[in-house]
Amino acid sequence: MQLISDYMRDEKSRSMLNELTRKTFGFDFDWWVNGGYYEGDYIPYSFIEDGKMISNVSANVMRFMQNGTVKNYIQIGTVMTDESYRKQGLAAKLMKHVVDKYEKDFEGIYLFGDLSALEFYKKCGFKILNQYRYTVKEEFCIRDTGKEAFKPAKEMGDGIRKTYLDLVRNSAPHSSFEQINKYGLQTFYTTGLDNVFYAEDLGCFIVLDEDDGIVLQSVLCKEKASLADVLKRIDLNGQKCRLGFTPLDEDKDKCIAEKYGGADDYRLFYRGDELMSIERDRLYFPDLSHA
Ligand SMILES: CC(C)(COP(=O)(O)OP(=O)(O)OC[C@H]1O[C@@H](n2cnc3c(N)ncnc32)[C@H](O)[C@@H]1OP(=O)(O)O)[C@@H](O)C(=O)NCCC(=O)NCCS
Repeated sequence: MQLISDYMRDEKSRSMLNELTRKTFGFDFDWWVNGGYYEGDYIPYSFIEDGKMISNVSANVMRFMQNGTVKNYIQIGTVMTDESYRKQGLAAKLMKHVVDKYEKDFEGIYLFGDLSALEFYKKCGFKILNQYRYTVKEEFCIRDTGKEAFKPAKEMGDGIRKTYLDLVRNSAPHSSFEQINKYGLQTFYTTGLDNVFYAEDLGCFIVLDEDDGIVLQSVLCKEKASLADVLKRIDLNGQKCRLGFTPLDEDKDKCIAEKYGGADDYRLFYRGDELMSIERDRLYFPDLSHA
């Protein structure tokens, strides 16, 4: 059995990873790497046996501006072992390797664990943490018809994709817990522009999802666009609007914060006391930053 790592630009190794992710999670990385969205912050650690990948744990380098200070964390993702090799200690071995490699140089290691794997992560020494989720108060969810509405970016011609991608790389901050190196992960979710909307007069993109109401996932603009201004340009049709990120301090009074443990979706696991600041300071990892 051989341990290989950091090989995303090597086609042979990546195709073995693809085979295991397709089987386990139903996706692969080829379009993401070949499209130029991969920038080196996704680092897989994998066991190979007989020319086949049998287990993998990936480290995502995450840089955040957290309440005015740069924080460097590792987010673990793509944790998987081929079905016929499970319960032999392989994923635990890879996890220990990754933790040992990054624990000293990063301020914390975290992951969003599937509910079916909770015991596994506890056995790997991770503890559970809450976040705070923000929902906009009703009185700030009223459309102002005097203002131009956000329109689907997909219908705006070819040039719009480049403008969007440039802003993913380089937008004014719209969150008090903003991922700085968001290009790789945000493009993973939004490169088709399906849920991306643009308001020409503001020069501003938003990403909107539906999940028991509307979720405002991202606001991207060269100059800061105020949350109130953005909301006036969205037709919510009476639906609630949750934020998929932590608002700026100045916008927190427009929102209701609730402690969030992940419900039926996940548990947030962490190592490193610095990450206790997430719960203490009522922060929320951007939904579009999940690995
Ligand atoms: C979760 C997963 C990666 C574990 O891989 P694995 O190689 O079988 O794990 P290990 O053998 O290293 O397990 C280490 C310990 O955790 C336990 N464990 C592993 N998976 C577990 C599970 N799903 N539930 C309870 N305990 C589990 C093992 O029994 C072992 O315990 P021990 O040290 O007391 O013997 C694997 O089951 C998998 O690929 N699942 C599908 C994909 C998935 O859900 N990934 C997680 C997404 S967040």
